[in-house]
Amino acid sequence: MERRTLITAALPYSNDRLHLGHLRSTYIPADIYYRYLRKRGEDAVFICATDEHGTPIAVRAEREGVTPKEIADRYHVLIKDDLEGVGCAFSIFSRTTHPIHYETTRAFFLKLYEKGFIYEKEVEQLKCPRCDRFLPDRYVEGTCPYCGYEGARGDSCDYCGRYLRPTELRNPRCIVCGEKPVVAKSKHWFFKLSAFQEELLKWLSGNEKLPVNVKNYALKWASEGLKDWDITRDMEWGVPIPVEGGEGKVIYVWFDAPIGYISATKVWAEQIGDKERWRKYWGKEGGARIVHFIGKDIIYHHAIFWPAMLMAEGSFGLPYTIIAGEYLTLEGRKMSKSRGWVISVADYLKLLEPDPLRYYLVMAAPLDRDADFSWEEFVRRYNDELVDILSNFIHRTLTLLTRYFNGKVPKPPHLTEKDLEVLSSIKAAVDKVAENLENFKFRDGLLEVMKLAHLGNKYLNDTAPWSAIKSSPERAAASLYVAVQIVRALADLICPFMPFSAKRLYKMLKLKGEPENTPWEAAKEKLPPEHELGEVKPLFKKLKSEEGEKIRRSLLPREEKQMAQVSLEEFYKAELRVGRIVKVKELGREHLYLVIKLGEVERSCVARIGGKYTREQLLGRQVVVVANIKPATIRGVRSEVMLLAAVHDGEVVLIVPEREVPEGSLVR
Ligand code: MSP
Ligand code: ZN
Repeated sequence: MERRTLITAALPYSNDRLHLGHLRSTYIPADIYYRYLRKRGEDAVFICATDEHGTPIAVRAEREGVTPKEIADRYHVLIKDDLEGVGCAFSIFSRTTHPIHYETTRAFFLKLYEKGFIYEKEVEQLKCPRCDRFLPDRYVEGTCPYCGYEGARGDSCDYCGRYLRPTELRNPRCIVCGEKPVVAKSKHWFFKLSAFQEELLKWLSGNEKLPVNVKNYALKWASEGLKDWDITRDMEWGVPIPVEGGEGKVIYVWFDAPIGYISATKVWAEQIGDKERWRKYWGKEGGARIVHFIGKDIIYHHAIFWPAMLMAEGSFGLPYTIIAGEYLTLEGRKMSKSRGWVISVADYLKLLEPDPLRYYLVMAAPLDRDADFSWEEFVRRYNDELVDILSNFIHRTLTLLTRYFNGKVPKPPHLTEKDLEVLSSIKAAVDKVAENLENFKFRDGLLEVMKLAHLGNKYLNDTAPWSAIKSSPERAAASLYVAVQIVRALADLICPFMPFSAKRLYKMLKLKGEPENTPWEAAKEKLPPEHELGEVKPLFKKLKSEEGEKIRRSLLPREEKQMAQVSLEEFYKAELRVGRIVKVKELGREHLYLVIKLGEVERSCVARIGGKYTREQLLGRQVVVVANIKPATIRGVRSEVMLLAAVHDGEVVLIVPEREVPEGSLVR
């Protein structure tokens, strides 16, 4: 039977744009594999969607004062732009807020429930007494019980990378209001993950296709013992729990998100007008090879949770393999959104073409190892490899043909052994690239492509048709005949990796159709003598140093923002209070001496607001001060509190309460 493949790329959270790291670990490898299968003429679909549930989106919406759906709507479009901009050729880019997704998730949950794999249990949860609500996952922050990091969140610690439950945090606090939560009981639903331990171990160790990094991690986790998994949350945003007693609660985002792979396939089937077609891919018997592309941080979810869910459900096929890409660093340092140390896809695309980026991200390191994006290295690969090796070889061959043979493929009267050898290495290269792609060795595949271009360059230099044209025009004809066959093969071989350039090369060679729909084996076909070429332009042009410098300056973040983080405890050390100014005296040109009443007590304050405010403007006003600042002597006068003001462009604007409050009130 013909091979059928369903490729998925991890569903990006719909609350931020993508950066180069996402592309490297997940989306570019998935796209290359899909494009390759499509060129093989195989039955393949490429599934993706935005992951629109979960606390990060809900928390963000709350902070911005909009609904989570509005956040998801906004980012769905932007993320789609990012991914299409770099050439990702999804069959569908759906959403987990699609009604079909809700329906599929409901049915999945119910089936597990009816089979006894989901049970209810009262659990202790954190609840904010002030907000009067439960605090799932990222609604709480506190100190990590394992490493002591103070900014740990209710679901994980960013510092040591451990998974956490909110109740494990030390010194927890509500992220909405800062209040210390209390423990309260709530009914939750658990998936009997423990029941699948043996089956998972068997599946993991027996699956020949799983790459080592995925297999080793997952086997380690599974053999350490699996605990049942809490798959519900006390919040409003998400897929409602389809059984009684679930009001006001939803299914946990990591339970519904992978089901998104199935629901998005259904949406795709509906869109192509063949509603039941999705079953051909997801069916347990005779279904497709399901190939998941993910980043290394979500191996647990894809190699443990998801297969166990599928085993429990029983009617869908298990993953054929899970390809987990390691991370990308930027100039040798870990990328960090909060510290501004990232390059967004959108920023890159404003300045440069997508193909050199795709090339770089594949070449930088094998997928199962971390890679680095460094500007210097990017420019080097661009100039020395894409321009000097690939583009120059193609350009030299095609311009020589234009010059000596009227832009037509010549008819070689005689081919030497060397010529025939080069022609047969084209065929070998096509097979080697394919073999590497079959085994998800994207970098090795691309290296083979570049080796062929390199061989072409060398062959051209050795046979020197530009001098042979005078002494022996027949040799020049043979040489360019062979060289143009390499160019022809490259047009197809680069297609999965650099689809935009493949298209342009197809035009230059006046090849029929589009490279993405032309069979893979076409790379082995020869351009016949008399075949006419199109207009020749260089595929890539050198990045000159001034130009490169300009791009570098706008592309790379200036420097990592060393935003010192202040924990709530630290922040609360500063005692901010409302006070009333009861006395004002000038103290030189720049300073004013103030007396500020804070409830029962009065405090002195020397503030540098002279010339900014008059005595009349200040007297009797309520202001905000740091009441416990270390006293200092300024202009010979003791100052006990510090006045707060906004400072901008030489302007000084006092911070005052929006309306009168009792003096001495705390500000937090
Ligand atoms: N929503 C989940 C995936 C659900 S799949 C059912 C998610 N989303 S994400 O937006 O955080 O990440 C999208 C993809 O990028 C994932 O494959 C993830 O592993 C990967 N990466 C996330 N951060 C990354 C880096 N800093 N570097 C490289 N890949 C990264 O995870
Ligand atoms: Zn609260």
